[in-house]
Amino acid sequence: MTWIIDTHSHILPGLDDGASDMQESIRMLRQAGQQGIRGVIATPHYSGRFPNICPDRIRRLCREVQAQARARLKTEIQIWPGQEIMYSEDALSLLEEEKLLTIAGTRYVMVEFLPAAPYSYIFSAVRELTLAGYRPVLAHAERYQALREEGRLEELKKQGACVQLNFRPAGGKWHQGTARWCRKILRRGLADFLGTDMHNTEGRGPETERAVRWMEKELSSSYIEAVLKRNAMGLLEGKEI
Ligand SMILES: [Fe+2]
Repeated sequence: MTWIIDTHSHILPGLDDGASDMQESIRMLRQAGQQGIRGVIATPHYSGRFPNICPDRIRRLCREVQAQARARLKTEIQIWPGQEIMYSEDALSLLEEEKLLTIAGTRYVMVEFLPAAPYSYIFSAVRELTLAGYRPVLAHAERYQALREEGRLEELKKQGACVQLNFRPAGGKWHQGTARWCRKILRRGLADFLGTDMHNTEGRGPETERAVRWMEKELSSSYIEAVLKRNAMGLLEGKEI
């Protein structure tokens, strides 16, 4: 199996509902490493509940967690700074004031919406960000009811959005609606990235294996490599993917 870059995680301690302290960050990264994850994009929340508007703190914690993980786990794991931005009216101006982080200093921006957000709202957000020169990455795209309608994901991609799915629902049971939707999107080659969205080591730990097993049975090895690693490498270099 190819190794993985995790594009969505809450591994930084004390910033949101993810890792509560450095010990937990390291335990999460140990579990992630056991599943073949060699690089992690840290995406702490920006939302009403977690108003993280201090990019220097996020960058510093990335360096600290990476150093600690390398020393304690004896790995070469890489951690990049990013953010999961709950889209709101002020998101764009905060990005331009550099109070919110893009992914690893590129023009890619991870955005999330409420699960019941209307399609028109998601579409306008994507347009607003792309017109300002950003490349929106839809965080856990499987979560939005409005995107279940045929053709909408394609339309957002045409507007410049990228699509990230979470491993856990993609690896769900065949009878679960969300698992089926994720698999349809993967079969059509519409997903660009997969992420663990790990928050801790128990209920919401990294959980890639079931999804990867399904992918290995159903998808081409070239596409698997793209969604697990190659697209993320392109993103981190600021390339068009
Ligand atoms: Fe998240």
